[in-house]
Amino acid sequence: MTENPSKPPGHSSIVCPQCGYPLHEDDRICPHCGIDLMMVALLAERSYLEGYPEAAPIASAPQALTPRIGEYLLDHGLINKEQLDAALEHQQKISAQGQHCLLGQILVDLGSVEPETLDRAIGQQILSLHAALQEANRSLERRVAERTAELRQALKRLTELNRLKANLIANVSHELRTPLAQIKGYIELIGGGDLGPLTAEQESGFDVLTRACSRLEHLIEDLIEFSTASREGLVLKPQAVDLKTLILEAIEQSQKKADKSQISLKAILPEYLPKAYIDPDRIKWVLLQLIDNAIKFTPAEGHVTLEAISSGEVSRISVSDTGIGFPIDRTNELFEPFHQLDGSSTRHYGGTGLGLALVKLILDTHGVELHVESEPGRGSTFSLSLPPATGES
Ligand SMILES: Nc1ncnc2c1ncn2[C@@H]1O[C@H](COP(=O)(O)OP(=O)(O)OP(=O)(O)O)[C@@H](O)[C@H]1O
Ligand SMILES: [Mg+2]
Repeated sequence: MTENPSKPPGHSSIVCPQCGYPLHEDDRICPHCGIDLMMVALLAERSYLEGYPEAAPIASAPQALTPRIGEYLLDHGLINKEQLDAALEHQQKISAQGQHCLLGQILVDLGSVEPETLDRAIGQQILSLHAALQEANRSLERRVAERTAELRQALKRLTELNRLKANLIANVSHELRTPLAQIKGYIELIGGGDLGPLTAEQESGFDVLTRACSRLEHLIEDLIEFSTASREGLVLKPQAVDLKTLILEAIEQSQKKADKSQISLKAILPEYLPKAYIDPDRIKWVLLQLIDNAIKFTPAEGHVTLEAISSGEVSRISVSDTGIGFPIDRTNELFEPFHQLDGSSTRHYGGTGLGLALVKLILDTHGVELHVESEPGRGSTFSLSLPPATGES
């Protein structure tokens, strides 16, 4: 933009929107920068009307910004009331005959106003409209700036709340660990017969106690893992890992649960599976979670299958089940912490809804994507492609 030149004497307070040069009310072209003032005004009006459809509440519709031409001429003493009424009457008459004519033109035709005076008045109106539009734009910008500041503030509060939540979970979980250690200690003493023999009835009650304690322990470990990872991020210990061994270990650890739920659990593995560059403990934990879900959400007599295939040096592992499935458009909800699809009080499946949130965190940290397929009533498949250990081992 050109520098704002000083104001020549005798000029009005209207300035060029391009260079700020003070304009005379007759000016159609800016004497300083040469811009076509009519065109500027029309373009500003159009961009305003097209660009800010929701800005109406700022009272900036063009009609609201400029008086109609008849009122303008009257207010500026360029015509009198009788002349205006006569022109309006004439306009009504010809529009009743199906013709259309602008009021300004009628005033000229009736000799009430000179064509040059009318042109000047229209020019003035456009310029004042342009000034009003500029003000409306400035007001919009102010509003956008205010909203941005509010959103920034809300984001800050949300981040703070998230931090407090993670701290709370971490503190509570750590506090739960101490009494749990004592419970576990006594369970081991009683189970080992150190505190005297148990009757058959006591033993069956003791089994329930042991299982409940182990579930509680897992839950607390998950909570600690989740809150620590959310606060500090996960630290991986990646290395070249033999995937066949990892998969078979996961199957072996889940076998008891599958048997108890009357689910057939099997692995389909190729002859050769390349090594992957991963944190073995974390990825085994991911597989255990996926198998745990597959067993949990599959009715008795169903099947859970772990399959591995290799494409080049990349290995893809999938965990499929023949269970209840879910609508695929709800996939995102699966990964929300503490969220279960069947969240009603009548839900039959245990768990806290943390498993897949942690799975996602672990896979994200590895840079691995989890692919999900599912169909209600037919089953689900969760698959992941693991990075090769080429050059890393
Ligand atoms: N294989 C599956 N079949 C059907 N629904 C599933 C399957 N896996 C996960 N879901 C749905 O996703 C939800 C979240 O799974 P997630 O593993 O995070 O929690 P959870 O298994 O309910 O509890 P947790 O893993 O903490 O014990 C489940 O509650 C279930 O609604
Ligand atoms: Mg789970």
